[in-house]
Amino acid sequence: MSNIIIKTPEQIDGIRESSRLAAKTLDFAGQFVKEGVTTEFIDRKIEEFILDHNALPAPKGYNGFPKASCISLNEVVCHGIPSDDIVIKDGDILNIDITTILNGYYGDTSRMFTVGVVDAAANKLIEVSRHCLDLGIKQVYPGNYFGNIGFVINRYAKSRGFTVVYEFCGHGVGLQFHEEPQVDHTSRRNRGSIMKPGMIFTIEPMINQGRPATRIDKTDGWTARTIDNKLSAQFEHTILVTSSGYEVLSDIHNEYEIT
Ligand code: MF3
Ligand code: CO
Ligand code: CO
Repeated sequence: MSNIIIKTPEQIDGIRESSRLAAKTLDFAGQFVKEGVTTEFIDRKIEEFILDHNALPAPKGYNGFPKASCISLNEVVCHGIPSDDIVIKDGDILNIDITTILNGYYGDTSRMFTVGVVDAAANKLIEVSRHCLDLGIKQVYPGNYFGNIGFVINRYAKSRGFTVVYEFCGHGVGLQFHEEPQVDHTSRRNRGSIMKPGMIFTIEPMINQGRPATRIDKTDGWTARTIDNKLSAQFEHTILVTSSGYEVLSDIHNEYEIT
């Protein structure tokens, strides 16, 4: 039994506003991503910005997560906890993941940032991760199987010599932080539930340079790292199934068509 919420037009408008605020917050955060800055400092700026826009940062207090955002550097796959001890350095690649609650509605988006001179292999990983998200988004239309999202992502990542994390997934979003369905990034063709207009979910593939497996930091219980400490990269958008295709609700730069 699947229980994927079909959102009402009013809910869609609310989730769009929240997703756009999350994307604006990401852009705002970008100006602080510099050598010598701590991830704690960036997180404080993010929290201030979200509160100033009459919203709340969804991660704070979520299952005990202590900060307003996730900031994941280099070999950290996801759920990096901002800290005074983590100082950004030249050559780093990092993901900032923002989820806002605006008027009760959740929007969730993340992307990569680079610091100074980044090596060619890391840049290629980032480019492929971005393309994986784009390929996944193109699979969003009524009547398609959720499994086809992960199918195209995994096939492309593999063809470029990378692996796809299977232990963390995209998810329904909007009325709650994490709703059904789980959106796998490594699924088989024509598997899983069928997409219907009004469904809203994230696609957020995490792509690794080395092995796909992750391990969670024993000390903080959150930080997920690649098992071989090689690099990982991720982009995430919140996406609506329209009557004929998709709308990327967190796309404030009109990088995607509405189909
Ligand atoms: N924003 C993350 C996601 O894309 C979830 C973070 S959970 C937290 O689903 F507790 F770490 F914030
Ligand atoms: Co997120
Ligand atoms: Co998400």
